[in-house]
Amino acid sequence: MAQIVLHALLLFLFTFTPATVAEGATPNVVNFGAKPDGETDSTNAFLSAWGRACSSTTPTTIHVPLGRFSVGKVVFKGPCKNKGITVRIDGALVAPSNYDVIGNGGNWLHFDEVDGVAVFGGVLDGQGIGLWECKRSGKICPTGATNLGFSNWKNIVMNGVRCVKSQMFQIVIDRCENVRVEGVKVSAAGNSPNTDGIHVQLSSRVTILNSTIATGDDCISIGPGTTNLWIQNIACGPGHGISVGNELEEAGVENVTVKAVTFAGTENGVRIKSWGRPSNGFARNILFQHVTMLNVQNPIVIDQNYCPHQNNCPGQVSGIRINNIKYLDIHGSSASEVAVKMNCCPKQQCSGISLEDLMLTYETKQALASCNHVRGIVSGLVQPNNCF
Ligand SMILES: *[C@@H]1O[C@H](CO)[C@@H](O)[C@H](O)[C@H]1NC(C)=O
Ligand SMILES: *[C@@H]1O[C@H](CO)[C@@H](O)[C@H](O)[C@H]1NC(C)=O
Repeated sequence: MAQIVLHALLLFLFTFTPATVAEGATPNVVNFGAKPDGETDSTNAFLSAWGRACSSTTPTTIHVPLGRFSVGKVVFKGPCKNKGITVRIDGALVAPSNYDVIGNGGNWLHFDEVDGVAVFGGVLDGQGIGLWECKRSGKICPTGATNLGFSNWKNIVMNGVRCVKSQMFQIVIDRCENVRVEGVKVSAAGNSPNTDGIHVQLSSRVTILNSTIATGDDCISIGPGTTNLWIQNIACGPGHGISVGNELEEAGVENVTVKAVTFAGTENGVRIKSWGRPSNGFARNILFQHVTMLNVQNPIVIDQNYCPHQNNCPGQVSGIRINNIKYLDIHGSSASEVAVKMNCCPKQQCSGISLEDLMLTYETKQALASCNHVRGIVSGLVQPNNCF
């Protein structure tokens, strides 16, 4: 009998002990010397924890416990030996309070060349207020860093991350494939310069869901070479709305779906803009559906003559082809009388523009549309309805 009990006990220990050991092996940044005091520079501890996870041949979780961890620029570099690194953040990563330390462009936290990573939770605080003030004052200031940059990545999941007070762009997805961003909260002041919430470029199969973005520039900006992008359940404001095509050069934007988005008090709602200069680029097969505008300055914009600072746009003629853009069930209020502005070029018209179930008001009246060189169709109840 005693022997059976002993045997059972041994079996128990044998079964459960290894699990405990494995869990103890989860790289916790504190075990690598990180201090949750908001002051001690923990950059090297994060790099060491990453190094451990990246060189592991099995999926590994890096844990960042509660507390504020001060970190400078960190590049989490691949390729790694496994395709399953999870970064679980309970606390906050805080950029140095002196903005010069990370402010010379690039990314503050940069994940590069990894296949298979998930980031869960946590606060990423770029401490950008000082730099915004510097920029607004007209002084000479550093460019500023992006809070969180992913480049050359495949198979990324980001869930429940809060990205705050980035010096520049908040989250950048560059040359990535198969990315899922969910339940993310991005916030920066409404007057913070160049703080685009999420910027996507040269990437495919990116999904952005259930997220809240309040910022001083575009909530989501969709750059060149973006294909198969899905955006759903987003609250945007303050900010400049969702914008396609910052600098569409040769690589076009194709197959973008923007659904169930609310814009509150933003400068723009849904905007497509292309530089007024020659190019082989295009923006096509884009759907905006179930969009609510709450006092939005320019709810719907297509601008083929975009020319910031009025330079480098010879003749202001865009070479970007804009085709097959659908607006379906867009309603709410415009803060200006002309709620639909489509300004295309005589040579390179915008075609296949479809408006269906559009209802935009201005104060107590119907809003207006102003459209140049646009071809398309209208169906359902569309107000304003003077575009084509
Ligand atoms: C996203 O939000 C919708 C509606 O608010 C909810 O039904 C859905 O479960 C959420 N999805 C996730 C994965 O959280
Ligand atoms: C468009 O993109 C979505 C993902 O956002 C994808 O499911 C769909 O297959 C793509 N359509 C085409 C025609 O490639």
